[in-house]
Amino acid sequence: MKIELINETESTNDYIKRYLDGGEDVIVCAARQTCGRGTKGRAFLSEAGGVYLSALTFYKGVPASDAFCVMTHASVSVCRTAEAFGISPVIKWPNDVYVKGKKLSGILIENCCSEGLLKYSIVGIGLNAENDLSSLGGIAVSLSAAAGRKISVAEARDKLIENYRTADTFSDYLRYAVTQCTVRILENGREYTAFINRILKDGRLEIQTEEGVRALSAAEITVRL
Ligand code: BTN
Repeated sequence: MKIELINETESTNDYIKRYLDGGEDVIVCAARQTCGRGTKGRAFLSEAGGVYLSALTFYKGVPASDAFCVMTHASVSVCRTAEAFGISPVIKWPNDVYVKGKKLSGILIENCCSEGLLKYSIVGIGLNAENDLSSLGGIAVSLSAAAGRKISVAEARDKLIENYRTADTFSDYLRYAVTQCTVRILENGREYTAFINRILKDGRLEIQTEEGVRALSAAEITVRL
């Protein structure tokens, strides 16, 4: 697998698209991004001190209905990376990694499916290593702050690449994912309280409210822990 380290780009998720015609898996890591992209059209703070990684993976014969495994794999790789530095992470469904209530990493996935099959995925991971996150008002944390010692971008990046290249299972994901607790749910501008029962293999979240049990996708709702 090709691994390319670059200094700066607008967004590694866009930069990596130059490899789409090659048909070969690639990982690109940038020291900073000038136009980092988050989920739901938001910007992602991408100054030096973080790991900004995108991985392009081609698939053969994987049903589009199994695409949740792309998300579970990305978030498990981040959790294993945090654990390698003595930190205990959790996954907030579907794939944000938190440490003691603060966001350690964000993941942006772009899947390409056709004729019912997953063709390729671009997985973008932003992992805070030793960056100054003070402008975010205490909602985010770096590996260094969580571990109480300096963890360099290079150490974090190398461990993340190693873990990204290691296989895992849905049970590994479930081991980190937060379930069996009460949360706030945002759905179509409405906010309500619900109990998280479980995460289904297709990626939907099964929640319980006074109105009954429902299974919802990440496109339909946002969870607030
Ligand atoms: C989020 O939490 O909203 C997702 C953030 C994803 C950020 C990563 S950094 C590498 C890749 N390039 C981007 O522009 N975004 C993703």
